Amino acid sequence: MAGVFPAAARRPSVGAEPGEGASMTVSIAHEGSFAVVTVDNPPVNALSHAVRVGLLAAAAALTPEAGVRAVVLVCAGRTFIAGADIKEFDAGPQPPSLGAVVDAIAAAPVPWIAAIHGTAFGGGLEIALGCHYRVGLDTARVGLPEVTLGIIPGAGGTQRLPRVADIGTAIRMVTTGKPIGAAEAAKAGILDRLVGADLRGAALGFAAEIADAPHRRLDPAPAVAHGTDWDALRRGVMEKARGQESPGFAVDALRAACTLPLAEGLVEERRIIAPLFQSPQSRALRHAFFAERAVGRPKALDGAVARPLTHVAVTGGGLMGCGIAAAALGAGLRVTLIERDDGLAEAARGRVAGLVEGGVPRGALTAAEAADRLTRLTTTARADAAAGAELAIEAVFEDAAAKAAVFTTLAAALGREAILATNTSYLDPTGFTGHVENPARILGLHFFSPAHVMRLVEVVRMPATAPDVLATGFALARAMGKTAVLSGICDGFIGNRILSAYGRLAGYMLEDGALPGQIDAAMRAWGWPMGVFEMYDMAGLQISYANRRRQAGTRDPALRYSRLADLLVEAGREGQRTGRGWYRHDGRSAQEDPEVTALIEGEAARLNRRRRSFTPEEIQARLLAVMANEGAQIVEEGIAERPLDVDVVEMLGYGYPRHRGGPMRAADDAGLPAVLATMTAIAAEDPGSWTISPLLSRLASVDGRFGILDNA
Ligand code: COA
Repeated sequence: MAGVFPAAARRPSVGAEPGEGASMTVSIAHEGSFAVVTVDNPPVNALSHAVRVGLLAAAAALTPEAGVRAVVLVCAGRTFIAGADIKEFDAGPQPPSLGAVVDAIAAAPVPWIAAIHGTAFGGGLEIALGCHYRVGLDTARVGLPEVTLGIIPGAGGTQRLPRVADIGTAIRMVTTGKPIGAAEAAKAGILDRLVGADLRGAALGFAAEIADAPHRRLDPAPAVAHGTDWDALRRGVMEKARGQESPGFAVDALRAACTLPLAEGLVEERRIIAPLFQSPQSRALRHAFFAERAVGRPKALDGAVARPLTHVAVTGGGLMGCGIAAAALGAGLRVTLIERDDGLAEAARGRVAGLVEGGVPRGALTAAEAADRLTRLTTTARADAAAGAELAIEAVFEDAAAKAAVFTTLAAALGREAILATNTSYLDPTGFTGHVENPARILGLHFFSPAHVMRLVEVVRMPATAPDVLATGFALARAMGKTAVLSGICDGFIGNRILSAYGRLAGYMLEDGALPGQIDAAMRAWGWPMGVFEMYDMAGLQISYANRRRQAGTRDPALRYSRLADLLVEAGREGQRTGRGWYRHDGRSAQEDPEVTALIEGEAARLNRRRRSFTPEEIQARLLAVMANEGAQIVEEGIAERPLDVDVVEMLGYGYPRHRGGPMRAADDAGLPAVLATMTAIAAEDPGSWTISPLLSRLASVDGRFGILDNA
């Protein structure tokens, strides 16, 4: 495979000496008058200090005087350099800087050719842009994802990319952080040649072609802006960024590329990036990056091995079941979708086909891939058609008796060993699976709607669930391109339990003086894509109404209960679907409705509540306090293993702004004493309605942070 080189073929490292505790990360091999520089820093060849030292030394050593006519830069393992080493950001810069390394390669006396496979991301692409030519495998991807980490490319990426590619491509890549494929990169001029195999050989062949040509250097004049309106661009980018600042800084750096000579633009880029590494937004986004990877390694999975999967069954052909089926097809699995009768099975087939084929115009897959996926789908009314499936997921409506019956049928059809999962979002699975033989193979797999799109899956561990069964749930989610988070059993698991806490506070604030539009606007200003009432209207108010009816008999009478949502449903206002809910819906736009205002004010008067005003900051602080308080209880009860698990559930399942890192991280940033003070005030307003988390109290008393528990 291209990019993998036997260690024996290498000369000694030119990176930091092994005696210094650094690994051998950069090596040089000679092929006649060509040098092959190999970076080998698993897992993703990040540009750690040792790699930077090694590359800088190589740039100095490989000269015509040393008999070198051209240099090919390749990487061992699964990818080209995937970026700066994010783990080093906290400690601050340690020379040589990445910028110095790229500058040294760009100034090298012999041409450098980057040979790219896998992902050339961030600093990896900046190194490649410092090289004088780029050859790529046709499966490679290139990108500058820095804005997603709250920074901008700081080693010349914002200055060199618009001098290599057109300004439109550069703006898109730098301000969104989204990567592009090899073919597009070649079209844009980023890759000089595309190859299908033998990357190293092709790059050496390319070296032979250009070695005697005049040495190619980037034009130092300002890049061509093609009439870009920079102010309008910055405004547009910032509107989309919902309070995240880095995309705006990326525009500033690109503007410098189009107005300043290269050398001055590089200085300006470095001036812009310098304060960003330690900004709260960048630190929160780094937390999000590592937390999303850490959730896949809960202690409960230590040593557990996932079972192989080839065939899964899904019971229930509604929106959720069909979304899960589409995701399982996307994971390369055979899928048997079971419905109650042939007509419903046929309808479900149409629905899954619609979801799969819907990805074709969006470019998510080709028509041939969509057709292949659908050949692996069987829809049927006969559960025994699922015989042989290693795992089944029930996704029928939230009714314990219906789910119990489905489990009986699945257990009979699939046998004693097959893994059985429930997609319930609120019910306690022990309540409807107790009769099923071999409880070690039962777990919850809580998908979020629409399940073929949403990245989050809560993997719910039941008292008897075996570790290999949990590991299989995690592996299935990963194969579907999703992120799994382990949850214990409680009402609503991690995400819906927190939603229910802040939804409850939002309801109280309505009775106490706020309006839905004010609360939603404050949430959007915090960075949410939508507020809680907009979200309720989108999801529909009917299901949670039914849930509240179900819980009515067992609800703690000391708990303050807001009837407002019930009153809406009883007035026929069920959300977007009925055109009216917390808002009036006209097409996609939502307007505040005087009828809702009157209903809120009427209810407050009936309860003798003196309405007062809330500032956006107060609304934000109160919602944060309640979310972090509930999250802390969830951690203390062992429902979530770590605060970071709560953060990832909120970011991936509910739209919590990534640049705040999730509610636990945001609480750490706000300071736990302040969060506790807000929570204490909220609890004092309605005695009996809130429990203050002992964990929050303990950590606040020592000015601690939830984050210390992430690595405990
Ligand atoms: N610095 C430090 N560590 C990094 C890293 C980086 N730039 N990129 C990835 N890693 C680590 C991950 O944390 C993970 O570590 P873990 O196994 O201890 O959790 C490991 O490398 C593998 O990464 P993962 O994302 O799980 O692998 P993947 O194959 O799914 O994806 C990439 C590979 C390169 C596409 C992906 O890791 C990525 O996008 N990395 C970030 C690239 C980036 O933002 N670069 C710009 C930095 S400014």
